[in-house]
Order: sequence, then C-alpha cells, then structure tokens
Amino acid sequence: MTTGTPPLASPLLGEPYLLTPGPLTTSANVKRAMLKDWGSWDEEFRALTREMRTSLLALTGDENDVLDCVPMQGSGSFSVEAMLGSFVPRDGKVLVLSNGAYGQRIAQTLEYLSRDHTVIDKGDYMPPRGEEVTEALIADPSISHVVIVHCETSSGILNPVKEISDAVYAQGRKLLVDSMSAFGAVPLDIKDVRYEAMVSSANKCIEGVPGFGFIIARKDELEAAKGRSHSLCLDVHAQWAHMNKTGQWRFTPPTHVVVAFVEALRAHLAEGGVAGRGARYTKNRDVVVEGLRDLGFETLLKDRWLSPIIVTFFCPEDPKFNFDQFYDLMKAKGFIIYPGKLTVVASFRIGCIGQMDEHVMRGVVNAAKETLSEMGVATATPPKKALIERAKLAA
Ligand SMILES: Cc1ncc(COP(=O)(O)O)c(C=O)c1O
Repeated sequence: MTTGTPPLASPLLGEPYLLTPGPLTTSANVKRAMLKDWGSWDEEFRALTREMRTSLLALTGDENDVLDCVPMQGSGSFSVEAMLGSFVPRDGKVLVLSNGAYGQRIAQTLEYLSRDHTVIDKGDYMPPRGEEVTEALIADPSISHVVIVHCETSSGILNPVKEISDAVYAQGRKLLVDSMSAFGAVPLDIKDVRYEAMVSSANKCIEGVPGFGFIIARKDELEAAKGRSHSLCLDVHAQWAHMNKTGQWRFTPPTHVVVAFVEALRAHLAEGGVAGRGARYTKNRDVVVEGLRDLGFETLLKDRWLSPIIVTFFCPEDPKFNFDQFYDLMKAKGFIIYPGKLTVVASFRIGCIGQMDEHVMRGVVNAAKETLSEMGVATATPPKKALIERAKLAA
C-alpha cells in the first residue's frame, strides 16, 4: 500500500540508512549546517545556544517556567552521569528501575559516584510497575530518588513513565528520567509526568549529530545542585550558572554540532514538533513490524509495549540463518541494522528514528525478504524458546 506522503530525500552521499538508535541518518540541511566555522564566544553563536535551549524547553509543556535546559558536552552517558552527580545529594539514595543495558549503566554510574543505591532488576525487558515501586519506597524511607529509563533502547520497550512518576511522588520522593532515545518523539509533558530532571542527546529524536547531551531540570533543583557535583566538567549547576551569566558554554562547545542541532530543531518544529515526529516514527515502526511479521519474524514485545523508537525481533530458528551474514547482506542493500542485546535468545533490532519514512521502511522489508531467500531461509519463524520467553510478558 502506498500513501500520498512524498518520500524524504535519501542520504546525501548515498551512504546506507542507519536503522539504529543513534547516531542516525540525518538530513542534508543538518549536514550542510556544519560547513561553517563559528567563534564560541561570538554573539551569533551565543544566539544559537539561546535558541537551542528555548526550543528544547518548548517541547516540555512547561507553562509555568519552572524548568531550564543545560546542554553538556559529550555523549548521552556524560549527561546521565552529570544529572546523577548533580541532583542526587551525596547522602541521598537512589532506586534504579532497570530493565536493560541503560538501566544497568545508571546503576554502574552510581557505583562510580559512590551514591548509595538499590536496583529493581526486571531482567532484559520486563517493565517496572508502579505497585512494586510503591512497595519499595514504603519499605525503604531512605530512598530519596528514583531513576527510570523512558524508552529502554536495548529492547525497545516504552516504560510506563507516568505510572512510575505518580507512584514516586505519592511517596514524596523525586524522579529522574533518562529519556535519551525518546525525547522529541514520545510526549514527556511536565504537566502529565512530574520529574525533577531528565536527559537526552543531540543525536536521537531531534535528528542532530553526536557531540553533546542536554539536561532539562527544575530551576529549584538546579539551584540546590550548587557545589554537589563530583566532577568539574560534569557539574550541571556550574554549566547552567555560567551559561546564564555569559551566554557561553563553560568549556569548548562542539560548535558545528550545536549549529546542526539548531537546524534539526527548526525541522522538528516544521514537522509538527513532538506529535509530528512521533507520528512519522510510529508509521515507520508499524510498516516494518507488519512487513517483517508477514515474513514470519516475531517481535520480542507485545504491541502495547512497542516504542516508535526501535523494535527487537527474534532471529529465525532456521539453521541457515546467520546474523552476521544477514547484517552484511542488508548493508549491501543500503540498510545498517543493529544487533540484539537480549541475554536469553538471539535477536536483532531495527531502529525507526532518523531521516527515514514509511517508503524507506518498505525498502527494509523488501531487503529482508530478498536476503532471507539469498540465505536459503524458508521462514523467519523464531525458536519455541523465544516464544516461551515472550509469554512471560503479561498483556
Ligand atoms: C536510553 C539510553 N540511555 C543512555 C544512552 C547512552 O548514550 P550514549 O551512547 O550517547 O552515551 C543511550 C544510547 O543509545 C540510550 O538509548
């Protein structure tokens, strides 16, 4: 089935599409924005930093002006570490809700920071639920903060962030959110979902290139973070205070990346903001899920837990299927897919984010069909073990 939506332009130099959760395929305009050099102290660049911070805040639904946005050099994990080190007091205690690699990384980061913490570990992909968070908070009054991953990119599950936020604040505790792969495409409106701080990065749903992340936090929490950070470079309060005073980043900013990101933010707005971006990604996901299911592939998650960000598929049971060969043959057809991260069964992932649309996703399905036939795989049906694993996930 084709629709009337005109196709997006294909990658500028004919490189393969990145069906990955970032770095991802970016537009020609975003790439072209990086051709010019900028003085980091110059008013023109400072104006772009201001525009960026204001545009990001406009995506949060913050009508009462309680939030501010602090960009931070480095990859997304740098911003996660900056958030944890700046907003969790040294005598605080964190409950980490972990259901994949990024939840585990949060716990590991807290270990490095010597911040007391406890983990509800749901394994590879089971969602944390409000009730168990309530129980854990009642059982341990010393827990001051809860951290949740919005979309756990390792499985693609969209965690029930509102349910968790309601449970956290009903117990008078504070929520921090890693919305790295979801922010900008999945709503996270401060009026619906209360949080103290959240992080995301330039190379996810806003469709910029990698080089920095950003923390969006309540201004009262930013004030309270003064002097708390373990790190000179990752001190969110210090970056915030300096930026508000001078309009400049504290240390060398990734100038070209920032300018590309501002271009990406303008395109995000033109596409209809979070709703428009989310609609394209949702269509991408629906086309690829439907098409691959028709070939016999099965998703790890039931439909209600599927994010519009990335989807995990089980590898087929057929002994002729070999992931490395599948990867190479898909790449030769113009599509870079992503290995799976499940510990129990073999899987792979297809990202739905970046400069791609339903036309591209139909191309992915056709490429997968051809590739299976080149490999001599008759059907993509997964092993029984995979379906038994999936049955654990209550509807
Ligand atoms: C949910 C989540 N958190 C953290 C990260 C880490 O970001 P980075 O790899 O940019 O350090 C990622 C990266 O994909 C992610 O998806």
